Amino acid sequence: MEVRRRLTIGDNLQSLSTVPDSTVDLVYMDPPFNSGREYDARLGGSNRGAAFTDVWAWNSSHESRLRSLTADGSSQFASTLRAMVEIVGRGGRGAYTLEMAARLFQIHRVLRPTGSIYVHCDPSASHLLRMVMDALFGAQNFRNEIVWQRTHAHSGSRRFGPVHDTILFYTKSNKFTWNQGFAPYSRTYLEKHFTHEDVNGRFQLITCTGPGDRTGTRAHYEWKGVLPPTGRHWAWKIEKMRELEASGLLVHSKTGVPRLKRYANEGSGVRHQDTWSDLPSLSAHSSERVGYDTQKPVHLLERIISASSNPGDVVLDPFVGSGTTAVAAERLSRSWHVMDQGLVAASLTLSRVREENRMAHVALSGHPESLNELERVRTADPSAFAAWTTSVLAARLDRRTTAGTVALGRRRWNPTFLTIVPMSTAANLTTDLGELTGGLLVAGPGYQNLAHQFAQLGTSRLDVVPEAALTSVSVARTGFADHDLRIA
Ligand SMILES: C[S@@+](CC[C@H](N)C(=O)[O-])C[C@H]1O[C@@H](n2cnc3c(N)ncnc32)[C@H](O)[C@@H]1O
Repeated sequence: MEVRRRLTIGDNLQSLSTVPDSTVDLVYMDPPFNSGREYDARLGGSNRGAAFTDVWAWNSSHESRLRSLTADGSSQFASTLRAMVEIVGRGGRGAYTLEMAARLFQIHRVLRPTGSIYVHCDPSASHLLRMVMDALFGAQNFRNEIVWQRTHAHSGSRRFGPVHDTILFYTKSNKFTWNQGFAPYSRTYLEKHFTHEDVNGRFQLITCTGPGDRTGTRAHYEWKGVLPPTGRHWAWKIEKMRELEASGLLVHSKTGVPRLKRYANEGSGVRHQDTWSDLPSLSAHSSERVGYDTQKPVHLLERIISASSNPGDVVLDPFVGSGTTAVAAERLSRSWHVMDQGLVAASLTLSRVREENRMAHVALSGHPESLNELERVRTADPSAFAAWTTSVLAARLDRRTTAGTVALGRRRWNPTFLTIVPMSTAANLTTDLGELTGGLLVAGPGYQNLAHQFAQLGTSRLDVVPEAALTSVSVARTGFADHDLRIA
């Protein structure tokens, strides 16, 4: 089973249009929620401004988008969209609805007939997205509105505390991939339902009969002088009853009615339901945190991916943010295609994937495609540039870095090796370089100065790579095999 990995950087409407029809098994998307907020990615410790914005306004492009999306005037999708714009108006909510509808339309196209989609939103826009999805996927293919309780308490002013997100689950047809998941029994459940205990653990007593009169068959006999109650039959033939008794698994009441011991540790647990309160969001000090405001926990994605796909299947996330979906897909051996318009998001995704699987070959496409574009990023947003170059070089982003001077990333698999992307001619190595034995320096402004500082520290090895190596790079090639990247 070959696992394929793809990261496309740019507006996902454009990226989605390049995905062939019916090739994706599962889509998870966590788009902006129409919250009216700006979200940050705290990298480099500098005040870089928002990583992405969730503020929407209607403009002339929405008129033409409405026209093109409703060109097939007879479809339910077209009439729903037109009606929705009339109802919510040509403002922020109308713009949001149209932008999401355009992407959902593409997603419907790329999903396989057996595919599923999970749309992560919250009560500010879930009702709008449900209308669109009912029209596109068919109300009969709506499966769940999952309530993900992300926190325990939130002080709502003069209203109940908003503590949950909503995840809308639809399938493309009624034949879809489904793997039932189970949660372990909770302590309260065990205490309530498994009230007996012996040397083998907690157990409950369950009936040995099934519904239906089967008089005259091998399911109707006298067991120790007792017949099954009227309208019921024994659940097993007499040979199996004898086996169960010999194994000590039957308990008889005073009147001789048998019951079977079922141990708590035998069952799979409780089937997952549509309210998820057992998957906490990331705490402030969680080691999983990468500094991306809207980062979701990997266990949330693992639940979704396990339920609605199989190993080797293709999972698509058009709004991947810090890369959580790619990490979960990687852990579960799924192929993945993720998209984001932000370079910081893409950088985090690459770095996180590399932490999961050092040898992962990730196919990159989209911005920045050329050295010129890279140069533009460096000038406009030095911190994003630092993050990107560090991540394509497969180094771990170091969030203590001072952006704008020098970006330092420590390679995960070798803590004594640094990757350095110089950002100015005056760059200084200010970090504690205690155990450093080698480094990799990207030729940029001031790299000679840095190379000199390195030499003074007496490090045994310093490789310099040309910036050109940062473009169209295949991450598998950044394992720093000397013949790949080293220049004399
Ligand atoms: C809510 S965040 C996703 C967070 C993600 N689930 C995680 O765990 O980190 C939404 C992401 O969508 C991206 N985004 C917003 N509009 C986009 C567009 N038109 N095309 C591609 N990405 C977009 C933003 O850059 C942001 O990273």
